[in-house]
Amino acid sequence: MGDELRDSHGRVMRDLRVSITDRCNFRCLYCLPETEEAANFYRSKWDAVRNPKPASLEPIRYDWKPKSHLLTYEEIERIVRIGVSLGIEKVRLTGGEPLLRRDVPGLVARIAAIPGVRDLAMTTNGFLFARQADALRQAGLRRISFSMDSLDPANFKRLTGRDGHAEVMAGIDLAQRLGFAPVKVNAVVIRGLNDHEIESLAAFARDRDLSFRFIEFMPLDSSRAWQKDLVMPAREILARLQAAYGLVPVDQSSHPSETARRHAFPDGRGEIGLIAPVSEPFCGHCNRLRLTADGKLRTCLFSLEEHDLRPLLRGDASDADIAARMRDIVRGKEAGHRIGQPDFVQPQRTMSCIGG
Ligand code: GTP
Ligand code: 5AD
Ligand code: SF4
Repeated sequence: MGDELRDSHGRVMRDLRVSITDRCNFRCLYCLPETEEAANFYRSKWDAVRNPKPASLEPIRYDWKPKSHLLTYEEIERIVRIGVSLGIEKVRLTGGEPLLRRDVPGLVARIAAIPGVRDLAMTTNGFLFARQADALRQAGLRRISFSMDSLDPANFKRLTGRDGHAEVMAGIDLAQRLGFAPVKVNAVVIRGLNDHEIESLAAFARDRDLSFRFIEFMPLDSSRAWQKDLVMPAREILARLQAAYGLVPVDQSSHPSETARRHAFPDGRGEIGLIAPVSEPFCGHCNRLRLTADGKLRTCLFSLEEHDLRPLLRGDASDADIAARMRDIVRGKEAGHRIGQPDFVQPQRTMSCIGG
């Protein structure tokens, strides 16, 4: 009890999300919008006369971290072990795109073997999934979340900057055939880009018996071009899906820290989740802690400060020293994000480094 990762607001951390690389093979408009198409889209939204983009919102310049800065698999395993000794139960591997790193099944096997890891999952864009799927499953990965924001290959490319729709669809299909359960699919909804696809994405979820989650666009893009008007509030998405499908809320009272408000289809196939960090923040029940690929602990997606564990890992700190440091860090976890408040400041790290 005394050894838990408890913050000053009484929340206890159970979920460690580990980014294993900051690199990505996609250029999503909401994350790393580095294509001409993305630039044009955002230019059309920031109007030089009526709605000028403030000079303070300069794009975030970002260089990939050198390899020597990335935690090794031994170092990641050590942090997870220490985390588990402090009450962590869930581990999620993220990126960038995690499958760009070498031998991910090797890391999965190491983490799956740690007693106390009750849940091990991964978030991927799915492009490279098929060739490693079997090995990942064999290594002990049980759950997987894909990002797929559109069913239309051309719109998929507009949103992700890459021609990868067929590969991602094949990845989702394969994950289901291999018995990953549940298979989740995440779509970030951006008004004017993919909000017209909400109903068809939901139909896809029911058809394929998937857990499909619609996510509100958060200000974590490297271009700092986010604006409120581009966010499609979850209640609007839900109203449309209620009208089309008559969704039924799922009882989640025993899982207060879940990010998604879940809804079932009346025929019981597939499920819809609504993740509404902007319009209905869920920070009060947050039990998540994040480790970046270069060894920094982050207490919030929106933290402005991060805590470097690499010097401890590469120095002569004992596990007990690192555990004590982690407990101190968690004590200072912020109450919540401040999106929409006048004093909101977007972190220097983009989602591609933090991992979602
Ligand atoms: P499980 O619930 O374990 O299946 O994890 P998951 O990664 O599939 O879903 P999760 O609900 O954890 O995250 C999905 C998306 O929700 C992320 O990609 C983020 O966009 C958003 N999200 C997750 N955690 C947080 C958080 O702590 N704060 C905010 N603001 N958004 C979050
Ligand atoms: N807002 C909301 N979700 C985002 N993701 C990435 N960037 C953003 C953003 N700006 C989500 C993607 C992916 C996960 C890694 O993070 O949907 O599923
Ligand atoms: Fe897209 Fe994820 Fe890559 Fe960001 S890290 S560009 S969200 S696939």
